Amino acid sequence: MSDPIWKKSGKHEVPEAIMRFMAGQDVELDRELLPFDIRASRAHARGLARIGVLSDDQAGAMGRELDALADAFAAGEFVLDHGFEDGHSAIEAWLTERLGETGKRIHAGRSRNDQVAVALRLYLKDRLQRLAGLCSDIAEVALQRADAERDVPLPGHTHLQQAMPSSLGLWWAGHAEAFVDNAELATAIREWLDASPLGTASGFGVNLALDRDGVAEELGFKRLAVNPQNAQAARGKVELRAIDALAAATSDLRRLCWDLSLYASQEFGYVKVSPEFCTGSSIMPNKLNPDGVELLRALHATVVGARAELDAVLSLPSGYQRDLQDTKPPVLRAFGRGLEGLALVPALLAGLEWNRERMILAIGAPMHATDRANELVAEGMSFRDAYRKVGEELDQLAEREAADSLAARVSPGGCGDLLLDRIEGRMRAVRSRARE
Ligand code: ARG
Repeated sequence: MSDPIWKKSGKHEVPEAIMRFMAGQDVELDRELLPFDIRASRAHARGLARIGVLSDDQAGAMGRELDALADAFAAGEFVLDHGFEDGHSAIEAWLTERLGETGKRIHAGRSRNDQVAVALRLYLKDRLQRLAGLCSDIAEVALQRADAERDVPLPGHTHLQQAMPSSLGLWWAGHAEAFVDNAELATAIREWLDASPLGTASGFGVNLALDRDGVAEELGFKRLAVNPQNAQAARGKVELRAIDALAAATSDLRRLCWDLSLYASQEFGYVKVSPEFCTGSSIMPNKLNPDGVELLRALHATVVGARAELDAVLSLPSGYQRDLQDTKPPVLRAFGRGLEGLALVPALLAGLEWNRERMILAIGAPMHATDRANELVAEGMSFRDAYRKVGEELDQLAEREAADSLAARVSPGGCGDLLLDRIEGRMRAVRSRARE
């Protein structure tokens, strides 16, 4: 490893094994943060020029070299490896190597503490925007299918026992609305954490009149995280809320996948999952298993496991503590795996094939009992009397067409009046908010 940026002229040497332990996976993880760190460094340099700490030429040269670093990194020509303590040091080393004296000026008025905090906020904003976009994509496919299959009967279950006739329209719209909720949550959390900690330095401010507002604006932040102590203390806290938004989506995905794996079993036989999401068995030649569905169901475990790990790190006093470095692995793991999985869901949903006959056949006469009771209510009977009467005469319930039951389910949101336009309106609104 090259000399760390904090190395002074004295004899202080940290043994290799201890340095490696302290760096941990930091360098690998910083690969994901580096593009954001570069962006923030560019804005920081311009901010320094505005207050006269750098000349315009110096800031311009830094800007060009930072662009070159971003390009070299994207092209794989610059590799962030254990030759550096972390991504922050790598940026300064690049500038110093290329620009000499000028490069050494980049760290005026900042600390790695606000440097990592700003990179993480930019990262989280980007990932939450993607999360909102993916949730909207999922909702969009579900809404299209709700519309196309609105009148296809589906047995409705509670307690996994047959309950009432339902429809694919209602099932699809239910999952669609859940993902619209999740897109809104991701967007709200993104707006909530949209604040720049850059310029809080080590957590106490600096004796330079930094143009914090200008730098924040250039980076696209809505506001400043004003107080330096709180800007540092918010590290981990904002990540937790971001993971909560992700967990809302993976938890709804888990339920959706549960439905599919039940419906795809031979006993139900309602749906066929596209072979693209299936694998075979190494021993049973007859098998084609919906592994993709199951691993999407398991995604939530990765996310909440990461959340617990992150939360456990945060038992800390005020001020920067190096423990905070250990908030990065769970956050990057959760968003990495989480978004990778969510991105597959639209194709999974679009490829489902339903077996209409099986679903209609599975709806037996007793499932019409509640409809019958409400018919008696419409004729003037009290609900409790109607409930008892139908309950006593269950075996006399006439077979009915499920389609008639669905058409008559006119309560707003129900099978006969899905109000898809309302869900779609929210989906479109959150999509445009997420684009901002
Ligand atoms: N890798 C560190 C982190 O993620 C960067 C900040 C280091 N700051 C320090 N004072 N040692 O927290």
